[in-house]
Amino acid sequence: MKKIYVGISGIGSYVPDKVITNFDLSKMVDTSNEWIVDRTGIEERRVVEDNIAASDIATIAAKRALEDGKTNPEDIDLIIVATVTGDHAFPSTACIVQKNLGATKAAAFDINAGCSGFVYSLDIGQRFISTGAYKKVLVIGAETLSKITDWEDRNTCVLFGDGAGACLLEETEEGLGILSSELGSKGQDGEVLIQPGGGSRHPASEDTIANKLHYIKMDGREVFKFAVRVMEKATINVIEKANLKLEELDFLVPHQANIRIIAAAEKRLNLGKDKVYINLNKYGNMSSASIPVALDEAIKAKKINKGDNVLLVAFGAGLTWASMIIKWNREEGK
Ligand code: UT7
Repeated sequence: MKKIYVGISGIGSYVPDKVITNFDLSKMVDTSNEWIVDRTGIEERRVVEDNIAASDIATIAAKRALEDGKTNPEDIDLIIVATVTGDHAFPSTACIVQKNLGATKAAAFDINAGCSGFVYSLDIGQRFISTGAYKKVLVIGAETLSKITDWEDRNTCVLFGDGAGACLLEETEEGLGILSSELGSKGQDGEVLIQPGGGSRHPASEDTIANKLHYIKMDGREVFKFAVRVMEKATINVIEKANLKLEELDFLVPHQANIRIIAAAEKRLNLGKDKVYINLNKYGNMSSASIPVALDEAIKAKKINKGDNVLLVAFGAGLTWASMIIKWNREEGK
Protein backbone atom coordinates (compact mmCIF):
# COMPACT_ATOMS: atom_id res chain seq x y z
CA MET A 1 0.00 0.00 0.00
CA LYS A 2 1.28 3.47 -0.91
CA LYS A 3 2.35 5.47 2.16
CA ILE A 4 0.02 8.37 2.92
CA TYR A 5 1.82 11.49 4.19
CA VAL A 6 -0.24 13.65 6.57
CA GLY A 7 0.18 17.38 7.14
CA ILE A 8 -1.55 20.44 8.53
CA SER A 9 -3.67 22.09 5.82
CA GLY A 10 -5.46 24.70 7.96
CA ILE A 11 -4.78 26.40 11.28
CA GLY A 12 -6.56 28.90 13.52
CA SER A 13 -6.68 30.05 17.12
CA TYR A 14 -8.54 32.23 19.58
CA VAL A 15 -7.82 33.81 22.95
CA PRO A 16 -10.44 35.70 24.96
CA ASP A 17 -10.20 39.51 25.26
CA LYS A 18 -10.21 39.72 29.05
CA VAL A 19 -6.68 40.17 30.45
CA ILE A 20 -5.52 39.49 34.01
CA THR A 21 -2.09 41.00 34.66
CA ASN A 22 0.42 40.07 37.35
CA PHE A 23 -0.47 43.38 39.01
CA ASP A 24 -4.13 42.32 39.17
CA LEU A 25 -3.06 39.05 40.82
CA SER A 26 -0.88 40.83 43.35
CA LYS A 27 -4.10 42.41 44.70
CA MET A 28 -5.73 38.97 45.03
CA VAL A 29 -2.94 36.83 46.57
CA ASP A 30 0.44 37.37 48.26
CA THR A 31 2.57 37.62 45.09
CA SER A 32 4.33 40.20 42.94
CA ASN A 33 4.98 40.92 39.28
CA GLU A 34 8.71 40.44 39.93
CA TRP A 35 8.26 36.94 41.42
CA ILE A 36 5.96 35.75 38.64
CA VAL A 37 8.10 37.12 35.79
CA ASP A 38 11.32 35.89 37.36
CA ARG A 39 10.10 32.36 38.23
CA THR A 40 7.81 31.74 35.22
CA GLY A 41 8.20 34.39 32.48
CA ILE A 42 4.45 35.08 32.56
CA GLU A 43 3.27 38.71 32.50
CA GLU A 44 -0.45 38.32 31.85
CA ARG A 45 -3.04 35.75 30.88
CA ARG A 46 -6.47 35.69 29.18
CA VAL A 47 -9.65 34.42 30.81
CA VAL A 48 -13.12 33.75 29.43
CA GLU A 49 -16.30 35.44 30.70
CA ASP A 50 -18.44 33.41 33.15
CA ASN A 51 -20.93 32.34 30.47
CA ILE A 52 -18.28 30.96 28.08
CA ALA A 53 -17.26 27.27 28.02
CA ALA A 54 -14.50 25.31 26.27
CA SER A 55 -16.70 24.38 23.29
CA ASP A 56 -17.42 28.06 22.57
CA ILE A 57 -13.77 28.99 22.15
CA ALA A 58 -12.98 25.64 20.47
CA THR A 59 -15.64 26.43 17.86
CA ILE A 60 -14.14 29.85 17.07
CA ALA A 61 -10.65 28.36 16.63
CA ALA A 62 -12.09 25.52 14.53
CA LYS A 63 -13.94 27.90 12.18
CA ARG A 64 -10.70 29.84 11.66
CA ALA A 65 -8.79 26.63 10.86
CA LEU A 66 -11.47 25.50 8.41
CA GLU A 67 -11.47 28.88 6.69
CA ASP A 68 -7.67 28.76 6.45
CA GLY A 69 -7.87 25.22 5.05
CA LYS A 70 -10.75 26.17 2.68
CA THR A 71 -12.84 23.27 4.00
CA ASN A 72 -16.57 22.99 4.65
CA PRO A 73 -17.68 21.54 8.00
CA GLU A 74 -19.75 18.87 6.19
CA ASP A 75 -16.54 17.42 4.73
CA ILE A 76 -14.84 16.70 8.09
CA ASP A 77 -14.56 12.99 8.95
CA LEU A 78 -13.43 13.28 12.56
CA ILE A 79 -13.20 15.93 15.30
CA ILE A 80 -10.83 15.40 18.23
CA VAL A 81 -10.83 17.89 21.10
CA ALA A 82 -7.93 17.80 23.55
CA THR A 83 -9.06 19.30 26.83
CA VAL A 84 -9.05 18.89 30.62
CA THR A 85 -11.72 21.57 31.03
CA GLY A 86 -14.48 20.33 28.72
CA ASP A 87 -18.01 21.70 29.06
CA HIS A 88 -19.25 18.57 30.88
CA ALA A 89 -18.01 15.13 31.95
CA PHE A 90 -20.27 14.02 29.09
CA PRO A 91 -21.24 14.54 26.33
CA SER A 92 -17.79 15.20 24.93
CA THR A 93 -16.79 18.73 23.99
CA ALA A 94 -15.98 17.38 20.52
CA CYS A 95 -19.67 16.46 20.03
CA ILE A 96 -20.72 19.99 21.02
CA VAL A 97 -18.22 21.46 18.54
CA GLN A 98 -19.55 19.07 15.89
CA LYS A 99 -23.05 20.45 16.49
CA ASN A 100 -21.84 24.09 16.49
CA LEU A 101 -19.98 23.64 13.19
CA GLY A 102 -22.67 21.59 11.47
CA ALA A 103 -20.07 18.90 10.78
CA THR A 104 -22.80 16.37 10.14
CA LYS A 105 -20.70 13.46 8.92
CA ALA A 106 -17.94 13.70 11.56
CA ALA A 107 -17.24 11.26 14.35
CA ALA A 108 -16.19 13.12 17.51
CA PHE A 109 -14.41 12.43 20.79
CA ASP A 110 -12.25 14.10 23.45
CA ILE A 111 -8.73 13.27 24.54
CA ASN A 112 -7.46 13.90 28.06
CA ALA A 113 -3.67 13.82 28.16
CA GLY A 114 -3.21 17.04 30.15
CA CYS A 115 -1.03 19.62 28.44
CA SER A 116 0.25 16.94 26.03
CA GLY A 117 -3.31 16.47 24.73
CA PHE A 118 -2.96 18.43 21.50
CA VAL A 119 0.12 16.53 20.32
CA TYR A 120 -1.50 13.24 21.40
CA SER A 121 -4.54 14.20 19.31
CA LEU A 122 -2.49 15.18 16.25
CA ASP A 123 -0.85 11.77 16.40
CA ILE A 124 -4.19 9.97 16.72
CA GLY A 125 -5.66 12.06 13.89
CA GLN A 126 -2.78 11.38 11.51
CA ARG A 127 -3.15 7.64 12.05
CA PHE A 128 -6.79 7.70 10.90
CA ILE A 129 -5.63 9.40 7.69
CA SER A 130 -2.48 7.35 7.08
CA THR A 131 -4.48 4.11 7.28
CA GLY A 132 -6.87 5.44 4.64
CA ALA A 133 -9.88 5.45 7.00
CA TYR A 134 -10.49 9.23 6.89
CA LYS A 135 -9.49 12.18 4.70
CA LYS A 136 -10.05 15.25 6.89
CA VAL A 137 -9.51 15.32 10.65
CA LEU A 138 -10.00 18.45 12.76
CA VAL A 139 -7.83 18.54 15.89
CA ILE A 140 -8.54 21.17 18.55
CA GLY A 141 -6.88 22.07 21.85
CA ALA A 142 -9.26 24.14 24.00
CA GLU A 143 -9.02 25.08 27.66
CA THR A 144 -10.90 27.20 30.16
CA LEU A 145 -8.49 26.62 33.05
CA SER A 146 -9.75 29.77 34.79
CA LYS A 147 -12.85 27.73 35.73
CA ILE A 148 -10.83 25.20 37.77
CA THR A 149 -8.23 27.61 39.17
CA ASP A 150 -8.22 28.41 42.88
CA TRP A 151 -7.84 32.18 42.73
CA GLU A 152 -6.74 32.14 46.39
CA ASP A 153 -3.80 29.74 45.77
CA ARG A 154 -0.69 31.69 44.72
CA ASN A 155 1.11 28.44 43.83
CA THR A 156 -1.19 27.84 40.87
CA CYS A 157 -3.34 30.88 40.05
CA VAL A 158 -0.43 32.82 38.54
CA LEU A 159 0.30 30.10 35.98
CA PHE A 160 -2.75 29.37 33.86
CA GLY A 161 -4.85 30.98 31.12
CA ASP A 162 -7.65 30.24 28.66
CA GLY A 163 -7.51 29.78 24.87
CA ALA A 164 -8.04 27.48 21.91
CA GLY A 165 -6.22 26.42 18.75
CA ALA A 166 -7.17 24.11 15.90
CA CYS A 167 -5.52 22.32 12.99
CA LEU A 168 -7.00 20.54 10.00
CA LEU A 169 -5.10 17.38 9.02
CA GLU A 170 -5.10 16.01 5.46
CA GLU A 171 -2.97 14.02 3.07
CA THR A 172 0.00 16.01 1.80
CA GLU A 173 2.89 15.70 -0.68
CA GLU A 174 5.29 12.77 -0.41
CA GLY A 175 8.06 13.34 2.14
CA LEU A 176 6.28 16.25 3.85
CA GLY A 177 4.02 16.54 6.91
CA ILE A 178 4.34 14.51 10.11
CA LEU A 179 7.65 12.62 10.04
CA SER A 180 7.69 11.09 13.50
CA SER A 181 6.04 11.22 16.91
CA GLU A 182 6.36 9.88 20.41
CA LEU A 183 3.70 9.63 23.11
CA GLY A 184 4.50 8.67 26.70
CA SER A 185 3.08 8.53 30.19
CA LYS A 186 4.22 8.03 33.76
CA GLY A 187 1.01 7.34 35.62
CA GLN A 188 2.75 6.48 38.88
CA ASP A 189 3.46 10.21 39.39
CA GLY A 190 -0.01 11.36 38.36
CA GLU A 191 -0.96 12.88 41.70
CA VAL A 192 1.56 15.71 41.39
CA LEU A 193 -0.83 17.49 39.00
CA ILE A 194 -4.50 16.73 39.58
CA GLN A 195 -8.05 18.01 39.85
CA PRO A 196 -9.09 15.59 42.63
CA GLY A 197 -12.81 16.29 42.92
CA GLY A 198 -15.81 15.90 40.63
CA GLY A 199 -14.99 12.46 39.21
CA SER A 200 -15.86 8.98 40.47
CA ARG A 201 -13.10 8.99 43.15
CA HIS A 202 -14.52 12.08 44.88
CA PRO A 203 -17.92 12.87 43.35
CA ALA A 204 -19.01 16.50 43.77
CA SER A 205 -20.41 17.04 47.27
CA GLU A 206 -20.50 19.73 49.92
CA ASP A 207 -17.26 18.22 51.29
CA THR A 208 -15.41 18.30 47.98
CA ILE A 209 -16.41 21.94 47.55
CA ALA A 210 -15.46 22.85 51.14
CA ASN A 211 -12.05 21.18 50.65
CA LYS A 212 -11.59 22.85 47.25
CA LEU A 213 -11.08 19.49 45.53
CA HIS A 214 -12.60 20.83 42.32
CA TYR A 215 -9.53 23.04 41.76
CA ILE A 216 -6.09 22.28 40.25
CA LYS A 217 -3.60 20.92 42.82
CA MET A 218 0.04 20.83 41.82
CA ASP A 219 3.47 20.05 43.20
CA GLY A 220 5.23 22.54 40.93
CA ARG A 221 8.77 21.44 41.71
CA GLU A 222 8.07 17.81 40.81
CA VAL A 223 6.37 18.78 37.55
CA PHE A 224 9.29 21.08 36.78
CA LYS A 225 11.87 18.30 37.20
CA PHE A 226 9.81 15.88 35.12
CA ALA A 227 9.34 18.50 32.39
CA VAL A 228 13.02 19.30 31.95
CA ARG A 229 13.89 15.60 31.73
CA VAL A 230 11.19 14.58 29.25
CA MET A 231 11.50 17.62 26.99
CA GLU A 232 15.06 16.59 26.21
CA LYS A 233 14.39 12.85 25.98
CA ALA A 234 11.25 13.17 23.87
CA THR A 235 13.01 15.56 21.50
CA ILE A 236 16.03 13.36 20.95
CA ASN A 237 13.84 10.27 20.40
CA VAL A 238 11.62 11.91 17.83
CA ILE A 239 14.59 13.38 15.92
CA GLU A 240 16.13 9.88 15.72
CA LYS A 241 12.84 8.36 14.56
CA ALA A 242 12.70 10.94 11.75
CA ASN A 243 16.29 10.11 10.74
CA LEU A 244 17.32 13.71 11.30
CA LYS A 245 20.24 15.31 13.09
CA LEU A 246 19.71 17.85 15.85
CA GLU A 247 21.23 20.55 13.58
CA GLU A 248 18.50 19.88 11.02
CA LEU A 249 15.78 21.14 13.35
CA ASP A 250 14.52 24.50 12.09
CA PHE A 251 11.97 25.51 14.69
CA LEU A 252 10.70 24.49 18.12
CA VAL A 253 7.18 25.10 19.38
CA PRO A 254 7.25 23.90 22.99
CA HIS A 255 4.47 23.66 25.53
CA GLN A 256 4.30 27.08 27.20
CA ALA A 257 4.43 26.43 30.95
CA ASN A 258 7.54 28.12 32.29
CA ILE A 259 10.28 30.11 30.57
CA ARG A 260 12.90 28.32 32.68
CA ILE A 261 11.74 24.91 31.41
CA ILE A 262 11.92 26.15 27.80
CA ALA A 263 15.32 27.77 28.40
CA ALA A 264 16.68 24.48 29.79
CA ALA A 265 15.50 22.62 26.67
CA GLU A 266 16.87 25.35 24.40
CA LYS A 267 20.26 25.09 26.11
CA ARG A 268 20.49 21.29 26.16
CA LEU A 269 19.48 21.08 22.52
CA ASN A 270 21.73 24.01 21.61
CA LEU A 271 18.99 25.58 19.51
CA GLY A 272 19.31 29.34 19.79
CA LYS A 273 16.53 31.70 20.83
CA ASP A 274 15.45 32.63 17.29
CA LYS A 275 14.44 29.00 16.65
CA VAL A 276 12.03 28.79 19.60
CA TYR A 277 8.55 30.30 19.76
CA ILE A 278 7.50 31.80 23.09
CA ASN A 279 4.21 33.47 23.94
CA LEU A 280 3.71 32.43 27.57
CA ASN A 281 4.46 36.00 28.63
CA LYS A 282 1.08 36.99 27.09
CA TYR A 283 -1.06 33.94 27.81
CA GLY A 284 0.46 31.82 30.62
CA ASN A 285 -0.02 28.08 30.42
CA MET A 286 -3.11 27.21 28.35
CA SER A 287 -2.54 23.46 28.69
CA SER A 288 -3.56 21.67 25.47
CA ALA A 289 -4.23 25.01 23.75
CA SER A 290 -0.67 26.29 24.24
CA ILE A 291 0.96 24.54 21.29
CA PRO A 292 -1.70 25.18 18.61
CA VAL A 293 -1.99 28.86 19.60
CA ALA A 294 1.81 29.23 19.52
CA LEU A 295 2.05 27.37 16.18
CA ASP A 296 -0.64 29.60 14.65
CA GLU A 297 1.13 32.75 15.86
CA ALA A 298 4.51 31.49 14.63
CA ILE A 299 3.07 30.88 11.15
CA LYS A 300 1.38 34.29 11.06
CA ALA A 301 4.70 35.85 12.15
CA LYS A 302 6.31 34.07 9.15
CA LYS A 303 8.71 32.08 11.33
CA ILE A 304 7.97 28.78 9.54
CA ASN A 305 8.05 27.92 5.84
CA LYS A 306 7.72 24.95 3.55
CA GLY A 307 10.34 22.25 4.14
CA ASP A 308 11.20 23.41 7.70
CA ASN A 309 11.56 20.68 10.32
CA VAL A 310 9.25 21.85 13.09
CA LEU A 311 9.35 20.18 16.50
CA LEU A 312 6.37 20.17 18.88
CA VAL A 313 7.04 18.97 22.42
CA ALA A 314 4.78 18.91 25.46
CA PHE A 315 4.43 17.50 28.98
CA GLY A 316 1.58 17.59 31.44
CA ALA A 317 -0.92 15.95 33.75
CA GLY A 318 -0.92 12.18 33.73
CA LEU A 319 1.96 12.58 33.84
CA THR A 320 2.33 12.55 30.07
CA TRP A 321 4.63 13.76 27.34
CA ALA A 322 4.42 13.96 23.57
CA SER A 323 6.69 15.09 20.75
CA MET A 324 6.35 15.31 16.99
CA ILE A 325 8.34 16.47 13.98
CA ILE A 326 6.48 18.01 11.07
CA LYS A 327 8.26 18.79 7.81
CA TRP A 328 6.19 21.85 7.07
CA ASN A 329 4.07 21.17 4.02
CA ARG A 330 2.58 24.58 3.23
CA GLU A 331 4.06 27.60 1.49
CA GLU A 332 3.55 30.34 4.09
CA GLY A 333 5.42 33.09 2.20
CA LYS A 334 8.32 34.41 4.23
O1 UT7 B 1 1.76 22.20 32.10
C1 UT7 B 1 2.17 21.56 33.26
C2 UT7 B 1 1.73 22.38 34.41
N1 UT7 B 1 2.67 22.79 35.39
C3 UT7 B 1 3.92 23.25 35.25
O2 UT7 B 1 4.50 23.29 34.22
C4 UT7 B 1 4.57 23.76 36.50
C5 UT7 B 1 6.04 23.44 36.58
N2 UT7 B 1 6.60 24.09 37.74
C6 UT7 B 1 6.89 25.41 37.77
O3 UT7 B 1 6.70 26.11 36.79
C7 UT7 B 1 7.51 25.97 39.02
O4 UT7 B 1 7.81 24.93 39.91
C8 UT7 B 1 6.59 27.02 39.73
C9 UT7 B 1 6.53 28.29 38.89
C10 UT7 B 1 5.21 26.46 39.94
C11 UT7 B 1 7.18 27.38 41.09
O5 UT7 B 1 8.49 27.89 40.93
P1 UT7 B 1 9.67 27.34 41.86
O6 UT7 B 1 10.86 28.12 41.53
O7 UT7 B 1 9.71 25.85 41.70
O8 UT7 B 1 9.16 27.77 43.29
P2 UT7 B 1 8.90 26.85 44.56
O9 UT7 B 1 7.67 26.06 44.34
O10 UT7 B 1 10.17 26.15 44.88
O11 UT7 B 1 8.62 27.96 45.64
C12 UT7 B 1 9.63 28.87 46.08
C13 UT7 B 1 8.98 29.84 47.04
C14 UT7 B 1 8.12 29.15 48.11
O12 UT7 B 1 8.30 29.84 49.32
P3 UT7 B 1 9.22 29.19 50.47
O13 UT7 B 1 8.58 27.86 50.79
O14 UT7 B 1 10.58 29.07 49.85
O15 UT7 B 1 9.12 30.21 51.56
C15 UT7 B 1 6.70 29.39 47.62
O16 UT7 B 1 5.76 29.45 48.66
O17 UT7 B 1 8.11 30.72 46.32
C16 UT7 B 1 6.83 30.75 46.96
N3 UT7 B 1 5.80 31.01 45.97
C17 UT7 B 1 5.45 32.25 45.61
N4 UT7 B 1 5.87 33.48 45.99
C18 UT7 B 1 5.31 34.54 45.40
C19 UT7 B 1 5.08 30.12 45.27
N5 UT7 B 1 4.23 30.77 44.44
C20 UT7 B 1 4.45 32.09 44.63
C21 UT7 B 1 3.89 33.24 44.07
N6 UT7 B 1 4.34 34.45 44.49
N7 UT7 B 1 2.93 33.21 43.12
